[in-house]
Amino acid sequence: MDGDARINPYLAGNFAPIRSEDDFDLTVKGEIPAAMRGALFRIGPNPQFEPRDPNHHWFGGDGMIHGFYVADGKVGYRNRYVRTPKWELEHEHGRSLFGSFGNPMTTDPLAMGNEGGVANTNIVWHAGKLMALEEGHHPFEVDPKTLDSRGYVRPYGGRVTAHPKLDPKTGEMVWFAYGVGQMPLSAGMSYGVTDKDGKVVRRSDFQAPFACMVHDFMVTENHALFPILPLTASLERAMSGKPAFAWEPEKGSYVGVMRRDADVSTIRWFNTEACYVFHPLNSWEEGDKIFCDVMRYDVAPLFPNADGSPGQKAAARLVRWTFDLAGNSDAIKETPLDDLDGEFPRVDMRVETLKHRHGWYAADPTRSGTVKQSALAHMDFQTGKRQVYELTGGDLTSEPVFVPRSADAPEGDGWLTAVIWRAAENRSDLAIFEAQDIAKGPIAVAEVPRRVPFGFHGNWADLS
Ligand SMILES: [Fe+2]
Repeated sequence: MDGDARINPYLAGNFAPIRSEDDFDLTVKGEIPAAMRGALFRIGPNPQFEPRDPNHHWFGGDGMIHGFYVADGKVGYRNRYVRTPKWELEHEHGRSLFGSFGNPMTTDPLAMGNEGGVANTNIVWHAGKLMALEEGHHPFEVDPKTLDSRGYVRPYGGRVTAHPKLDPKTGEMVWFAYGVGQMPLSAGMSYGVTDKDGKVVRRSDFQAPFACMVHDFMVTENHALFPILPLTASLERAMSGKPAFAWEPEKGSYVGVMRRDADVSTIRWFNTEACYVFHPLNSWEEGDKIFCDVMRYDVAPLFPNADGSPGQKAAARLVRWTFDLAGNSDAIKETPLDDLDGEFPRVDMRVETLKHRHGWYAADPTRSGTVKQSALAHMDFQTGKRQVYELTGGDLTSEPVFVPRSADAPEGDGWLTAVIWRAAENRSDLAIFEAQDIAKGPIAVAEVPRRVPFGFHGNWADLS
């Protein structure tokens, strides 16, 4: 980076990439329960080379997987790049070649027309495959033990987002895609289903009310819901040197609701005021009502305004959206659920798409108004009780991931895992908590001898 260039925040501190692929046996402090056996896989952006785009965005870095393998009270750690075609092409040339979000203005002519996927956003275990996911490309399969790259899983017929939902009753992976079609940054969307054996059994295309970044969506036992929120996308804007994605609140917010077994032409568009949601906690239905617990921002953080001016800082809070399918109104009812700032909300995956009692998220008890993950929170929605475990000394946590005590343990009975960056030591720990008693602090900590960069999502897989 030039001496006079501003430091890109996504290349500094614990956002900065690490450039080694390692295998470590971690030192464990405390006691890891003998019954805890499996792997926590986490993924995040980790540019292989210095990005060529001066406005490099966090979302644009090459995917790197961090695997924490837990068995017999011990933890082995392994990290590997996802060797996408982009990674391979840049590796061959020894430098970065692609612009952020495939922007042709900042892409080297050498790379034009090549697959630019980075597989950096989520890592999901489904139908015997461990897949690294990103919003704009096919799922990318890696070996669950070695983390060696196996390549794109092609039968999807096009892009799939990073946030599918796993139906615990049917074993299906329900997913969507946005920006689908001939032109990039379009309003085209897809709804799709992969069956429990990994076969893609449905892909249906439709048009959103406007083109935007659709980071995640909601699924219940019988319905799928598509949030179209005003973090808009525009190829015309991008080609004029302005942001490809920008905050345009005047467009308002829409959520499309359809039955999972119905045609996409039946989507009913509900609406609410301008807001943004990166992540729902979970959703379920009761009779004619659908409930979605989501982390809602008043303003989309991390993105500029349409004229290119910097966007506002913002934090999210947990709210419940209610959709009344029997009512005459298309308005979404919104109820606050919590008063802490938070992100990366998760449930016990065995109740995803069903009514949940417990939820966990990364929180900011100081209510700084930014996305600052300095605590973990547990909400018991039955009792209304909240527990918080606050980090100290500038330490920050990843998304928390729940691990059931056994396959048939009650919902929420198990452990919570989080990767915590220790600011003073510039190093990271895998921390393990009793999931319903996080306030007492971790029952065990496995120390990584170096830092694990801030990333996006993780999931637990029972590999036995
Ligand atoms: Fe996400």
